[in-house]
Amino acid sequence: MCGIVGYIGKTNALHVIIPSLQRLEYRGYDSAGIAVIKDGEIRLAKKKGKISELISFVSRIDFPTFSRVGIGHTRWATHGPPSDNNAHPHLECSGKIAVVHNGIIENFSELRKKLEKNHKFTSETDTEVIAHLIEDALKEVGSFEKAFEFAVKQLEGTFAVVSIFSGEPDRILCARYKAPLVIGLWDENGNLVSSDIPSLLIFTKKIIPLSDGEIAIVKENSVEIKKDGFRVERQPIEVPWDAQQAEKSGFKHFMLKEIYEQPHVVVDTTAEFLSRWDELNLGEFQKIIITGCGTSYHAGLLGKLWIEHIAKIPVEVDYASELRYKDYIQKNSLFIAISQSGETADTLEAVRRAKEEGLKVVSLVNVLGSTLSRESDFVLHTNAGPEIGVAATKTFLSQITVLYLLAVFLSGQSRKSKMLYDIQKVPEKIEEVLALSDFIYEISEDVSKLKNALYLGRWISYPVVMEGALKLKEISYIHAEPYPAGEMKHGPIALVSPSTLSVFVAPRDRVFKKTISNLHEVSARHGKVILITTKNTDVKDVWKKIEIPDVEEFLSPFLTVPVLQLLAYHTATILGHDVDQPRNLAKSVTVE
Ligand code: F6R
Repeated sequence: MCGIVGYIGKTNALHVIIPSLQRLEYRGYDSAGIAVIKDGEIRLAKKKGKISELISFVSRIDFPTFSRVGIGHTRWATHGPPSDNNAHPHLECSGKIAVVHNGIIENFSELRKKLEKNHKFTSETDTEVIAHLIEDALKEVGSFEKAFEFAVKQLEGTFAVVSIFSGEPDRILCARYKAPLVIGLWDENGNLVSSDIPSLLIFTKKIIPLSDGEIAIVKENSVEIKKDGFRVERQPIEVPWDAQQAEKSGFKHFMLKEIYEQPHVVVDTTAEFLSRWDELNLGEFQKIIITGCGTSYHAGLLGKLWIEHIAKIPVEVDYASELRYKDYIQKNSLFIAISQSGETADTLEAVRRAKEEGLKVVSLVNVLGSTLSRESDFVLHTNAGPEIGVAATKTFLSQITVLYLLAVFLSGQSRKSKMLYDIQKVPEKIEEVLALSDFIYEISEDVSKLKNALYLGRWISYPVVMEGALKLKEISYIHAEPYPAGEMKHGPIALVSPSTLSVFVAPRDRVFKKTISNLHEVSARHGKVILITTKNTDVKDVWKKIEIPDVEEFLSPFLTVPVLQLLAYHTATILGHDVDQPRNLAKSVTVE
């Protein structure tokens, strides 16, 4: 996915932009480029391939060794194949304005058709129209800022746009509409711009996020934000992450590192929640509506189960992409939106729909300063640290930690201390599960040879198998279908055969025996069964058995999900897939 970086200040722009771009590499890209202003001219270098190729190209050509302002980009091709020409930044005809862009300009072909009469296009990208629009407007209005604003107003679609102009080298202009963009304040060293907070962390933790429709004028010593010509005041926020957290730290993949961080994540998220426990004023409501997408939606399903069982409050959980179209949303409801990135377009639209109905919105967000966190009435920070792997792992555990604690909080006094005691025992049990990694690897060698899997669980383990099947699908590309174990006999049992894997999640709990009966229905038909269960349960007729430590029945997802994450991770790496950047997937999905 594309990434944007910009810098203006005292330090050498090249030495800020390149390391920041390298921290965007995990997003996946096919070309990279940089433009700086030197002696009143834009100087440009761009290359198909990896950033290392751009670095070697820059060292071979006559590229300025020092400049104070520049922009950089990693491109993931949408309009036009990966090539040097299609790489960003793009220049207009005179070569004085450079533009980088993330997102999609939906009306680019109409704009291009008009512009082609007077402009020479050098790429197939939608982005290049922006450079020519600014060029035209600059001739009319004379000011870079006004020309930029005018150009951006003509764009339809989703975009984060950053531009520099050699005639006004004291500024970088930025615009955002439905694609993330933040400004990093690097004290007396200047200011940065990025599409992604982790790329800034080696320089600063102080950021100002931009909102949709805003334009920012970033100079060495100042940042001005405007919307519709009016100044917007916004205080910077301190990101609670450090640069080390965004590194692989010796792990082969970010995903593996993030799986191993989970015991700590549960501790940190619990501490964060308990520190805000007293401020939590959710007001009066009769029902809770939870929304989210993908993994965050699965966390919501566990949240429903806990809140209904522990706090006895009715909960509805809807996919954000579906909730938006509901005609009826019950007014006296509390609305909870769950999102790692806080930038998921579907979730944001669902929140806006809830706000139209006057509901109070509480969000569970991992990225502070994200759009969702700014549009919510109350934010419960999931505090998992930066998650770089595209497949969500540790943020799922942080989300379910918050949801469990929320259920306990909403339940009133009677069971609080026991339940808080129980969750504090969870991290050491997750450590025990992680110690099974080598054993799970051996099982994954066989799983990697299969083409289809059913994931089956009842009650609390049903959202767990939904999450496990999603993990397997998205990184190993093996088809996996989750089903409530009791529903299997109503149809999917027809798929059972020696070549179809059935992964049963059945910890020792109130539904254990019933799930095991379903398991026997599969093994009796020569199905290949992996059973994930509590230690010392006596179940025969399984192909492989993975045993988790004994745990209070409400908390089993904290142990069964990491097993399924490891199963997916090892299967995908055995198959040779890039688990941190699975095909077709993006870390934040800003399209609807
Ligand atoms: C799965 C995954 C996605 C996200 C979904 C929502 O591993 O990462 O399913 O969970 O796109 O993203 P957020 O939580 O950022 O709203």
